[in-house]
Amino acid sequence: MKEKGEKIVCLTAYDYCLARILDESGIDILLVGDSLGSVVQGHDSTLPVTVDDVIYHTKAVVRGRRRALVVSDMPFMTFQLGVDEAKRNAGRLVQEGGAESVKLEGGVTQAATIEGLVKMGVPVMGHVGLTPQSVHQFGGYRIQGRGEADARAILDDAMAVEQAGAFAVVLEGMPVQLAREITQRVSIPTIGIGAGMHCDGQILVVHDMLGLFDDFTPKFVKRYANLKETIGGAVRSYMEEVRTEAFPAEEHTFH
Ligand code: KIV
Ligand code: NA
Repeated sequence: MKEKGEKIVCLTAYDYCLARILDESGIDILLVGDSLGSVVQGHDSTLPVTVDDVIYHTKAVVRGRRRALVVSDMPFMTFQLGVDEAKRNAGRLVQEGGAESVKLEGGVTQAATIEGLVKMGVPVMGHVGLTPQSVHQFGGYRIQGRGEADARAILDDAMAVEQAGAFAVVLEGMPVQLAREITQRVSIPTIGIGAGMHCDGQILVVHDMLGLFDDFTPKFVKRYANLKETIGGAVRSYMEEVRTEAFPAEEHTFH
């Protein structure tokens, strides 16, 4: 798709029902992201998410999809402790969860781990730039790669990820010019989020783009629906009808 200039369109998914809707709509990649820590579990970061959490949600997503590629996120502390530990956890995401590939955050520092997973037969998606598992290192969720040295470091990260054998790389939270340069310099597809229009594909957190989650809305999110409002309206109608005995009606009633 990169060679043909066809954009790769990706969304996160965490359960059967939504995975099925996204898959039937023709989404290319479903990411079982550790963003589930925020939008499913209600934490204020991705750090508390465990590999068992991601396995649980991966199983549900896999049951709902027919054609999309399923990528499962490797949570914090499941790959940073060494290649063997990473292999064990990636293996579980594939064997128990049913994922076809995994994603992990980091560039130069994770190259040996990416290489180890690829050699064991697990395709890896990289993730560089604003990597949320390093939020405390960054001192907040801040756009990365603004200065020349920082931009160079992120370019090095992306190239290290490609060199290590990753099949694609997420570029998160960086200036559009940097994402364009990386996209030109690597042969693997770049999947952007908060990285501008020049990436080979785009990803959003599905709860953000559907307007289900509004605790905070980063600048890079576009709302394509306002399901929070839609659901609230449906629930208020239901309450009203139960209270006025308009529901259940004759057609919902057994005799
Ligand atoms: O966890 C996630 O949803 C992600 C994407 C936003 C890239 O890592
Ligand atoms: Na993630």
